[in-house]
Amino acid sequence: MPLAISRRTFAGTLGAAAGAALLDSPLVRRTAEAATARRARPLDAVLLNSNENPYGPSAKALEAAAKAPPNRYPDGLEEEVRAAIAKHHGVAPEQVVLGCGSSEVLRMADMAFSGPGKRVVAAEPTFEAVLMFAKVLHANGVKVPLTADFRHDLPRMAEACDGSTGLLYVCNPNNPTGTIVSGDEMAAFASRVQAETTILVDEAYHHFVEDPRYRSSCELIAAHPNVVVARTFSKIYGMAGLRLGYAIGPEAKIAAMAPYASWSNTNSAVLAATLECLADPDLVPRQKKTLNDTRRWLVSELAKQGRRTMPSETNFVMIDVGGDVAPVIQAFRARKILVGRKFPSLPNWLRVSIGTRPQTEAFAAALGEIVPVRAAAA
Ligand SMILES: Cc1ncc(COP(=O)(O)O)c(C=O)c1O
Repeated sequence: MPLAISRRTFAGTLGAAAGAALLDSPLVRRTAEAATARRARPLDAVLLNSNENPYGPSAKALEAAAKAPPNRYPDGLEEEVRAAIAKHHGVAPEQVVLGCGSSEVLRMADMAFSGPGKRVVAAEPTFEAVLMFAKVLHANGVKVPLTADFRHDLPRMAEACDGSTGLLYVCNPNNPTGTIVSGDEMAAFASRVQAETTILVDEAYHHFVEDPRYRSSCELIAAHPNVVVARTFSKIYGMAGLRLGYAIGPEAKIAAMAPYASWSNTNSAVLAATLECLADPDLVPRQKKTLNDTRRWLVSELAKQGRRTMPSETNFVMIDVGGDVAPVIQAFRARKILVGRKFPSLPNWLRVSIGTRPQTEAFAAALGEIVPVRAAAA
């Protein structure tokens, strides 16, 4: 099945009005602002703001990336990686589409399943990309607040779906809270949501989870023709700068999304590195242990100080700073430590990504100075 369409078909699909809206959209502005902010990162700063993996991929993966032919389009390698990912999940290659990071996969899902007048339901707060892309497409984003224990409120999300709901986004584990939806909860939810609504489960942080109640929603795909799962090589695999993500789902859903991928949306370097990553049985367990051990250390240090944290199953932690987090973020920046942005619906919570142990210790020490324990507990 061809997985690309011509540029002309793409322009026609998008439409002139949507194209103009795209240029003057909050998404483009936010993206430009984010790019500027990233460029503004002090070079010697400790980066604990984007849930990146400080260790990066293995030496073998980097070697493969360096050897990838720079003068050839990545088509052949793309098919090889698609097949390798399909084999990894025990599905057909037609059930996999690759993206320039999973961000592109999320955008493809919006383009395929939402649009003017359609409803896109997501939690608040959650990873924002799906709602931002929905806005560009003139879809109606509906935000459903998390429960009091910072988890997806699945019953209310199901209730928020009406006949016009094209896409329902569940980030599991959730960014920025780090909380999970259990396998049983997800299965019951998938059975409840109408078949016309595509359930997009973003599993960017899947590999960090240790809670035995969690299960990947990939197991739901065979029985639910409306479940699609997004994954990324940016987090545990440490390749955020190389860019590769994918969606896995029923063939019809993947076929609906694939035309919205741009041509050669991946690159030979990341594809060559990915083949090495997938062939290395030690990489995921090693990264998981290192980063989760560091998170456990941080959480126990914070607990000793009486600070409140959200139960995280990811490579980041939310910490209650007992007041507006904005000046705290600035104070960290002044110390050349970048932490997560402020989430308006959780204004007193600071999101910190897990770095190396020394970076995480530096963060903990700085937190002690910036937010003395008495202020956090107040
Ligand atoms: C939940 C979630 N999904 C998707 C992404 C996008 O990642 P990428 O485009 O690098 O795959 C992120 C990045 O932080 C994320 O937190």
